[in-house]
Formats: sequence, structure tokens, C-alpha cells
Amino acid sequence: CLLGVAGAAADDALAAERRDPGFCGDTRATVERRLDRLLARMTLAEKLDQMHGVGAFPTGLAGRIAGVPRLHIPGIGMLDGARGVSAVSGTATCFPVGMARGATWDEALEERVGEAIGVETRARGGSMILAPVVNILRHPRWGRAQETYGEDTLHLGRMGVAFVRGAQRHVIANPKHYALNSIEDTRFTVDVAVDERSLREIFLPHFRRAVQQGHAGSVMAAYNQVNGEHCSENTHLLRDVLDGDWGFQGFVESDWILGTRSTVPAVEAGLDVEMPSPGYFGKPLTDAVRAGQVRLRTIDAAVRRTLRAQLCFRLDTDPPKVDPAQVESPAHVALALQAARESIVLLRNEAGALPLDPARVRSLVVVGPLAAMADLGDHGSSLVVPASAVSPLDGIRARAGGVTVTYVGASSPSPTDLSLIAAADAAVVVVGLTFEDEGEGQITIGDRSSLALPRDQDALVGAVAAANPRTLVVLEGSGALLMPWLGQVSAVLMAWYPGEAGGTAIAEVLFGDVNPSGKLPVTFPRAESDLPPFDNASPAVQYGYFHGYRYLDRNDTAPLFPFGFGLAYTTFRYSNLGITPATVSPWGRVQVTADVTNTGPVAGDEVAQLYVGYAGSRVARAVRDLKAFARVHLEPGETRTVPFEVRARDLAYWDAGAGAFVVEPIAYTVEVGPSSRDLPLAGAFAVSP
Ligand code: BGC
Repeated sequence: CLLGVAGAAADDALAAERRDPGFCGDTRATVERRLDRLLARMTLAEKLDQMHGVGAFPTGLAGRIAGVPRLHIPGIGMLDGARGVSAVSGTATCFPVGMARGATWDEALEERVGEAIGVETRARGGSMILAPVVNILRHPRWGRAQETYGEDTLHLGRMGVAFVRGAQRHVIANPKHYALNSIEDTRFTVDVAVDERSLREIFLPHFRRAVQQGHAGSVMAAYNQVNGEHCSENTHLLRDVLDGDWGFQGFVESDWILGTRSTVPAVEAGLDVEMPSPGYFGKPLTDAVRAGQVRLRTIDAAVRRTLRAQLCFRLDTDPPKVDPAQVESPAHVALALQAARESIVLLRNEAGALPLDPARVRSLVVVGPLAAMADLGDHGSSLVVPASAVSPLDGIRARAGGVTVTYVGASSPSPTDLSLIAAADAAVVVVGLTFEDEGEGQITIGDRSSLALPRDQDALVGAVAAANPRTLVVLEGSGALLMPWLGQVSAVLMAWYPGEAGGTAIAEVLFGDVNPSGKLPVTFPRAESDLPPFDNASPAVQYGYFHGYRYLDRNDTAPLFPFGFGLAYTTFRYSNLGITPATVSPWGRVQVTADVTNTGPVAGDEVAQLYVGYAGSRVARAVRDLKAFARVHLEPGETRTVPFEVRARDLAYWDAGAGAFVVEPIAYTVEVGPSSRDLPLAGAFAVSP
């Protein structure tokens, strides 16, 4: 017996979601009446002009939809970005990349980052930010891995919602790229085949959250194909799911230049706006309407969506005002620093090598070309150019106080360099990836060619470790890297692309001013062969139900570092799991509590994670799925009871036969702990009608 969530109570919940006024809030009814009047007064040409951009990269913007001055329709000015406002408009605060912010697991902080980026977008003349990227990291070699938040749909969705909420206090947000965009080298053409269950459970729920909980005003369709249709003309993705099932009220725009692939099929499928220039939606659309191939009702419905966003976000009465003083303000730079602090993941710390003990470490050698550069990430559409940025070396020098700092910049140390390295009390070697190793396809380098460190950096780490027994490795890049030298080094910090204040945050962690609290939002495997294959050359690929930690768990493969993992300069103990009720209905909620105690010497933050497993499910399930998480701050000796909530309907699987989510009446195991592979607390509850 299966319990459909399309039962009466679930219907009520869905109906409530549909009544939700969304991004219009309480102005919705007024706006709809204005839209009726506007549509009645607009000429066909004016309407069709709302359905495309004015041209690629108009001055200071990534794209623009023109206004209609005679009707006080303001139009929309669009700017990228995923880690700050993109360089096309000038300088801006460069935040840590999305993956780094994913490692904070801090939704409140991400909302503030979204808000700051929203403020800077307006201050640079934009009214819409082409962010957040909420594509699942299916494989860590994806060239744009850095722009998204991680490999897990719940974590990704919650971080994306936080960004949308913050940004939309000021501008329209644009979750992208809908959907299954996770290969760069073939991104314009690749056809991703996926079964409906994987689509509904793995690749779409974070978009649903961004739309239904974040109330995103727009969504960007991806370049790639899904099951034989490009995303911008994919009736199933746009009409059935986004519009039909989720009740999306905003507008859908294509990705830039090669994102729109047809005229009539795209309009009929639910693409509202072609960006950045009129191609298929220019004269061909006018001709198609005149020839009766597209009904006026369809045009009106599309234009209504774009206008609704403009009016609900008050772009007519409160247009963006250019204001350089709002850009890279001290408050925003401080926020970028805070995000970098919380994002750094301590992966290894042998014999208390970190934090640096000023009594034992009087001299430090900083090694590697990357140490002297602010490694900010991709140079594609997400490029942000801050007015200034702190490299790890700058940060360490500024913090070092009485500790002597020597820099060895060679990528291959000479005998003299090696004696300098050997003479220091500790060596910090900075290695990793840059924009030359991974990035947006076609514009920059595209997908990574392997998970290994490029440019002989493994040899560099090996040489430093052989010379200095206290070798501390700082890694930069989008994510998973292989570490053949791991056993030879004392400590490893994953610092990602840490943004303009990254060097300061790295130094603060090294010297112990900041207790590291980041947790991996992506699995680091021991070998690439432990992951599902990544094919960045074929015109067609197949995506399955398992990737990331769920793939390794299923195959009982030990990762190098598991999803959710991160050490601190203190220790945490988990105790007292509470689960109520023991049995819940398919539309009920389970309250789970766990006590977390800081058992170490310093204050710190812990990200507690709750995973659910499925005993006796009739379908293939993950060993465990992340279903809740919480970041808590604990003083030494302090215990806090951390509350989590699990909705039974979030345990449903997609029954392709029934075409609906169903919740099984089985036992659900609950595990709570500090990472996906360290779950000291376990219990269970049941679902029953
Ligand atoms: C990228 C989008 C970006 C757009 C505009 C495209 O190449 O895929 O993410 O928003 O360019 O710059």
C-alpha cells in the first residue's frame, strides 16, 4: 500500500502554495488589474519587444529588455553574477564563489550575500541579477562547479532560496540554468537523457524550492537538451513542471546567444523571453503571429509574465539608481570576509599542527605561485573585478606579527629555495586551480581534464613536505582534488576561490583567530573512477539516480573526504536523539532534536546534519539522504539542543506509473552527526495513513 501525497491534506497544502501571492506579495491583485489594462493598450510590436533583449551586452549590462515609455513600462536591465556583480558594469565586491558559500551551510549568511549583491546590482544600474546558479554538481569536473552550491538537492535548494530572498529585496533574481546543465564543453548541444524519477527527485527539487519558497521572479532556461529537446523549448520542463506543477508566476528567459533554438516550438513550450538579442523572437515571431501560427493569447500570457515581474518589483516607481558609493562598501567587504571565514574547510590537522602556535612557530615560509595571487575564480560570465583583493601571502604577512615570513614563489623550488623551506618552523604551500584550469565553456577553458592538481603542483607539495616536517597545504579551486601527498603533510585547508578578502580569512584560520567551520558540500573521492563517468565530449549522455555521496554510499566506497566533512580547532559531541512522533501521517512533520556539546578548548560553529534512510522501500533508494541541517555556535563546554524538522512528504519518491510523488508506509531511519560518514546518533520513525 502506497500513500499518495495527492491525498486531501496534501491537496490543501498544494492549494495553499498556489494561493501564495509569490513575489508580488499583497500587491498581486492590483498588479493583475494593471496588467489587464496594459495588455489592452499595447500594440503587437510593443508586446513582442517584451519578448527579447535589445542586443548582447548593452553598455554596462549583460542584457536588457526595452521599456515602453508611453505606457511607463520600465524594461529590465540584467547583470551577472554568481559571486558578485559582473565586470561588465565595472568593479564590485568579489564574494567567495557559490561552492565556497555552499561550504558555509549558513543560510542566514547567504541571504545577506544575496542582499549585498542585489544592492550592488541596483547601484550599477541593473534591475535583475542572473543568479543564483542552482545546478546539481553531478561531477566535480564540471567547468562551472564553482558557481553552484554543491552536489545535494536539499542543501543546494536551501542555499539558493536564501540567495533569492536576499537579492529580491532589491532586484529580480534568476535561478539558472534550468535544468541539468552540468557539462561545459558540449553545453550548447549535449542531450541529457534522464528518467522521470531522477529528474523529479534529484535534478529539479532545488529549482522548485527557489520558485516556491524563494519566490524567484524569473528562471533562466539552460542551453543543453533534456530528453531530446533543448531546455528553452522543452514543454515538459517549462509547461508541465515549472508552470503546471509548481505554479511559477515569473518569466522564463533563454540563456545567452545560443539559448533560443526555435520560434513557434519555443513560444509554445513556455519560453517568454529570448536573450540577449532578437533572433527567433524578432521578425520570425512577428511573422508567425501574423500567419496565425502562434495565438495572441500565447503572446499575451508570455508578456504578462515579464510585465508582472517588472511591476511587482516596482521597477516603474523605484527604478535602479546608479550609486558607486554602494559598491564594494566597507560593509560588503566585511561580509565577503565573513563568508570566506565560514567557507574554509579544515580537512586534515595532524598533531595540532594548526592553529600556528606562536611559541613554536617563529618563522614561516610561504610557497607557490598561487600564494601571491588573489585567486578569485572563472573569467567567464561570472567574472568579478574588485577594486582590491588580498592574496594569501598578503593576508599572512599582515597577520604575522612577530613571526618572520619568507616567500618562495617558484613552481619548482631550487636547492636554495629548499634550504629556505627547510629552515622555517613551518611551511604554508598554496596550490590549486585557477581560471586557466576550469571555467565557463567556449568562453574560457571549460571542464576540468582530471581531478589531479595541474602544473606539477603535486611535485611541489611533495618537495615542500620532504623539506619541512610541518607542511600546511592551502587548496584553492572549485572542489574535489586528488591528494597523493596527503599522508606527508601536517594540515590541509580547502579555501576554494575565497573572494577579495580571502587572503585575510586564510591567515585568520592559520593563526587561530578564526576556528574553521566549513563543511564539504561535495564529496572528495579517492579516485575519479569512484564516481559515475563524466563525458564532456559526447553529444548525448545519460544521467542516473546516483551521484556524489549517494553513489559512493551505494557502492560502499570510502571517499577521501566525505560530503559534509570538516574539522575544527575544537571537538563536538552528539547525544540525546529525540524523535516525535514515532508515527506520522504522509502529510505530517517529524520533530527531531539532538544535543551538540563543544567538548574542546575554543568556541566554534558546528554544522549538524540529519540524514534519512529507507528500510524496506519498494524502489532503489539512497543509503541515506540529507534531509535537514543546522549551524550552531557553541562556547567551550556549552551544549545546545538542535531542532530539525522532517516533512513526511519530503520522503516521497516519484512513482512514474502514477505520475505523482508517493510516501511509502515504511520505517525511516534517522541519523544525525557531523558528516555523511560520521553519524553517531540513530533512531527511526514510521509513516502510516
Ligand atoms: C551563461 C549565463 C550568463 C549569460 C549572460 C551565458 O553564457 O551561461 O550563466 O548569465 O551568459 O552573461
